[in-house]
Amino acid sequence: MSEDITNPAAQAASAAPQVPQAESVAPQVPVAMQATAPVATIATLGQHEGQSVTLRGWLYNLRESGKLLFPIFRDGTGTIQGVAHVKSVPPAVFDALKGLTQESSVIVTGKVRADKRAPGGYELDVLDIEVVQRVPESAPYPITLKEHGVDFLMEHRHLWVRSPRQSAILRIRAEIMRAAAEYFDSNGFIRTDPPILTPAACEGTSTLFPVDYFGDPAYLTQSGQLYIESTALALGKVYSFGPTFRAEKSKTRRHLTEFWMIEPEVAYCDLDGLLELAENFLSHIVQSVLKNRASELAVIGRDPTKLQAICPPFPRLTYDKAAEMLNQAHKDGHLEAPFEYGNDFGSPDETWLSSQFDRPVMVHRYPANVKAFYMEPDPLDPRLALCVDVLAPEGYGEIIGGSQRVSSYELLSSRIEHHKLPREAFEWYLDLRRYGSVPHSGFGMGIERAVAWICGLDHVRETIPFARTLHRIYP
Ligand code: 4AD
Ligand code: MG
Repeated sequence: MSEDITNPAAQAASAAPQVPQAESVAPQVPVAMQATAPVATIATLGQHEGQSVTLRGWLYNLRESGKLLFPIFRDGTGTIQGVAHVKSVPPAVFDALKGLTQESSVIVTGKVRADKRAPGGYELDVLDIEVVQRVPESAPYPITLKEHGVDFLMEHRHLWVRSPRQSAILRIRAEIMRAAAEYFDSNGFIRTDPPILTPAACEGTSTLFPVDYFGDPAYLTQSGQLYIESTALALGKVYSFGPTFRAEKSKTRRHLTEFWMIEPEVAYCDLDGLLELAENFLSHIVQSVLKNRASELAVIGRDPTKLQAICPPFPRLTYDKAAEMLNQAHKDGHLEAPFEYGNDFGSPDETWLSSQFDRPVMVHRYPANVKAFYMEPDPLDPRLALCVDVLAPEGYGEIIGGSQRVSSYELLSSRIEHHKLPREAFEWYLDLRRYGSVPHSGFGMGIERAVAWICGLDHVRETIPFARTLHRIYP
């Protein structure tokens, strides 16, 4: 029986011929390849030195020099250079490989040879190859190894993700998400998933995506916070992790309209407790990436020494102090515009502030009127909110926003009115202050902002498989 690697359903169907086979686009995998060598992945070739293995992947590139062919294969776990000499492989194998087009899918058998000069430390002496699907010369793979403009690449994002650099970024993203969830899972937090369809705003009414909910207005969630405040008062320590949406009309390198946010919420936690949680959480993520994704960091050329410095404690800076620093920076000619006390920081302000520290800096106690309605005022100066923005170093700016929440029913009620929020939609949220209200705090971290910083990328569009931005919803 032939082994169908791409379509398990087709595989099952061929084992039970009475079932009519659904229209299958899965290519026939030739029988000749069966069991010639154990199937391996490029990432684990080190375990097979001196042995023959079978790799299932794609042709990334091919260099030909007379009687020698140097194909580079990729299989999703990495890339490896192969070597095929006309005299050392059967003529059919040489012919199949010669002139083979970029991104043709192949199953290749070869002997693993250690080679100090090779990027991954190994090369593959090709013994046999089966071409699963040959990309036709007449319609070649659109992304060649030459430079392409970013618009072209984004238009071909469904293919661009195959490039070693983009694959490495997605692997690091996955590690960041894994480590983030692991931190909470192993520290007593319970994951509770808030709804995505919501009746009201959490982060201001100007960035809501409306949907028609059977004739009633509803919105895609901007943050799970309000809902996990409820589950925190039920379970103590909770977090949510899911997609969030902002109809941001901004075209900056930091803004997506759809992004993933991880949000912890903790009952009986004040702002100081939240700052501690944020620094431990972020440090765990960065250290996990250093430990588990070192080779991917190397592929994308990210200097690990900058990340090695990320451990607690992080510097803490009041908004007032930050404002002073910004004013001084303006006087010294580092910032074009003077900073006006009382405003939120602009992108250039955040960029400058965060490049002053080698660790994330935690700016706390912003003026309440530039922040969200749910933030607890500072008892020592009620014009300030008990909130924090964590700014990543190297100019990356805000990656975390959080606060202690208003716990008084009366204050929250008047805030809802003052912000002209629809009270009916918030009655349930007010219940959390009617029945057993306690001080509680939480924050949200945008995964893409964290990926951009940890990978050292200059735009969030490369941090998510398919970025949604002001002018892009294709592919
Ligand atoms: O600061 P934000 O708006 O805070 C909240 O949504 C709170 N309700 C979170 C909470 O306390 N549970 O957003 C939190 C984080 C930001 O720091 C940023 O990392 C990310 O979400 N973020 C975005 N990421 C990409 N594109 C956007 N348009 C983003 N808006 C926010
Ligand atoms: Mg924010």
